[in-house]
Amino acid sequence: MAPRRILLAVTGGIAAYKIPELVRVLRRADHRVRCALTAEAQRFVSPLVLQTLSGELVRQDLFDPGEENEIDHIGLADWAELVIVAPATANTLAKICHGLADDLVTAVILACRAPVLVAPAMNVNMWQNVATQANLAQLHERGVLSVGPEAGDLACGWEGLGRMSEPKDIAAAAELLLGPETLSGETVLVTAGGTAEPIDAVRSITNRSSGKMGFAVAEEAARRGAEVRLIAGVSALPTPAGVRRTDVQTAFEMREAVLAELPDASVVVKAAAVADFRPAEPETRKIKKESLTTHDRLTLSLVANPDILTEVCAQKGNRIVVGFAAESHDVVEAARRKIDRKGCDLLVANDISRADAGFNVDTNAVFFVSPSGEVEEIPLLSKRAVAAEILDRVEKLRQEQV
Ligand code: CTP
Repeated sequence: MAPRRILLAVTGGIAAYKIPELVRVLRRADHRVRCALTAEAQRFVSPLVLQTLSGELVRQDLFDPGEENEIDHIGLADWAELVIVAPATANTLAKICHGLADDLVTAVILACRAPVLVAPAMNVNMWQNVATQANLAQLHERGVLSVGPEAGDLACGWEGLGRMSEPKDIAAAAELLLGPETLSGETVLVTAGGTAEPIDAVRSITNRSSGKMGFAVAEEAARRGAEVRLIAGVSALPTPAGVRRTDVQTAFEMREAVLAELPDASVVVKAAAVADFRPAEPETRKIKKESLTTHDRLTLSLVANPDILTEVCAQKGNRIVVGFAAESHDVVEAARRKIDRKGCDLLVANDISRADAGFNVDTNAVFFVSPSGEVEEIPLLSKRAVAAEILDRVEKLRQEQV
């Protein structure tokens, strides 16, 4: 990505000690970074450190004759292509929300037309206070993006939500806002993770899908400017920035969620590992061992689940639909048969017998299979890079349509 101009606004919280690392991450990605600090922030992080790491003059006062000569605060607002407020204290969020401009940081933000990303950090009770939540909700409505906070030990001694996100996660959210916009105007519906089909009140049939591939597609699509709806099965992954997520458990719930979102979707990527069968009659209570003798067998009767991808393809219209295939053998041949059967525009086939691809790892090696049976082999890449390859193909298919 081309170097961009980022204004890093630092406000007064203990998490400010992580800001030098954020400057380094952004600089490593070749961006220009200028820092503006509130008076309180200067108690937690040294302006000299930020000036040295950013290689740019650090601004500390709203009206400093010397600094205003170098670059005035309105000039700073006009210069920025993105503003990151990190850490964003409850006080600063409230001030930005209400349009106050009583210090350098809030004055620059009020004057700035660039997108704003906030990384809140504060005591858990301050975070949960309805005032803070209402302020943030209003900021979201106005298009301000937020990243974090995370849960954990807090410097104030409390435990809970309030830790500022790690610099690399803040930088990833910034890249999202600075994305190439090649999918703007598209609404991308992504399914990810495995489904869980209940056997009884505590047990279920599921699979080893982590959701990593689908979440990577959702994240990359949002970075490219798409409106993204993510329907997640069983997955412990955090929601990527800018993505609207619905959690489901069973194949039936996933089908319902997909069909509800489908009218708005212009692209569908079905990365979820959907259970093909479900227990015919799940027990609402726990099946007790004592009702069985040691020689007993418990027989589960399974019935077929609906095939969501086939249903989506049956009402495809102008949509671009991407399916996945998890295969343990004869990958390409099985994938060719699968795309014929399902009717999607692209099938991403992976060999789940490989240790470095498929379920629960960060890399993937896939084949792209087209409806005409053409096959393209993609080398081992991070799932993020595979997601980019998939979306490049989606963009190409869209161009071929017009
Ligand atoms: N899929 C779906 N609904 C199902 C099963 C699968 O929408 N009930 C979708 C998956 O999300 C994936 C594609 O179909 O995009 C292929 O899934 P896969 O498990 O590889 O294939 P199956 O259709 O289950 O076929 P088989 O079990 O024979 O490999």
